[in-house]
Parts: sequence; C-alpha cells; structure tokens
Amino acid sequence: MKSYDQIFLANRAWAQSLKSADKEYFQKMALGQTPKYFWIGCADSRVSETVVTKSQLGELFVHRNVANLVNENDTNLLASLRYAIDYLKVKHIVVAGHYSCGGVKAAYDGLEDPYITDWVSDIKSTLNANGKEIEAIEGDMNRIDRLAELSIMKQVDKLASMDLIKDAWARGQRLFIHGWIFDLSTGELNSLKEIHPDDMIQ
Ligand code: CO
Repeated sequence: MKSYDQIFLANRAWAQSLKSADKEYFQKMALGQTPKYFWIGCADSRVSETVVTKSQLGELFVHRNVANLVNENDTNLLASLRYAIDYLKVKHIVVAGHYSCGGVKAAYDGLEDPYITDWVSDIKSTLNANGKEIEAIEGDMNRIDRLAELSIMKQVDKLASMDLIKDAWARGQRLFIHGWIFDLSTGELNSLKEIHPDDMIQ
C-alpha cells in the first residue's frame, strides 16, 4: 500500500458516512453553492478554515496564499474576489491570518529567497512603517505575532480601497470586511478589525 492510499481510503469513508446520514447529500451539493463568506487565509497546513470554524462544504468560498496577503495585482485573488462579490453575493470578506506565521517570519527575518522575498515585501513595509511599536515589544516571537496583526489590518484597509469593493458598496451591497487572527496555541479565532457596510454606503 502506498503512503497516500490512506487519503483515498479516508475520503471514501467520509463520503459514505455523509451519504448514510443523507442519501442525496452530494447530489444536492452538486447543484450549486451559496456561501456567505469569502475567506482569504494563509496557506499554512495548520489553519484550515473549514476545520477551525467547524463549517460544512458550501459555507466558505476560499482563497489562500502565503501570509494571507491582498495584492492588488494578484489575478488569482482578483478573480476569486470578483466571483465572490458579484456572482455569489457573499456578505462577508474575511482576511484571516494566524500567529506563528512562517510568511510573516520570513519578512521579519529579511529572508532572501528568490521565490518568497518579493511576495512578502508588503509585510516588510508594514514592519518599516511600525518599527517603533515593534521594537518596543520583547522577543522575536511576540514581535512577529504583532506584525501578523498589523498586516491583517492593513489587508482589510487595502480591500476597502479596491474598486471591486467600493463599487459593491456604491450599489448598496451590504458587504462586511473583517480582519481575524487564529491562535494556534489555543485554537481560538479572534477579531481585530471590522468594516461595516453602513459606514461605507452613502
Ligand atoms: Co501563515
């Protein structure tokens, strides 16, 4: 047996258990999706959004990348965002980062890697812009965790300044933007920032 056969065995057992609770579970699932959330999360293996929020299939529309960054030139993010807002009509956009993030650490450490350095440069800018606050914190781990918080809040602000989202607000679409952080050491998800559509719809 190959080591990855376990993946397929687990999949069949999972599908079977859902089908025994509801014979038509997957036929119904195949008809379409109406998620209320668009989740922008980190690629980290320990922060699966569906697991940590105890969600079911169909509840979260997801985009993940290293260090949960909102890059206005990222066509992958833009296509997902467009589909989430204008086609699925999600109500909430969530930037969800986490403590002990390797991507944030790479920016903090000044890691030089041709495939990573440029991607995390936005976190480096956040570090430079908040140098005094970060330096006043004791210990690299705590500094990296504060940098993760600051970066999440910055991604929320970036979303709020994007045409895709401003246009939705201008049309009266009630779209909330959230900045959340997951604590790997406690399993708890907490809110850092929220932008409420009533404050943005004129
Ligand atoms: Co991460």
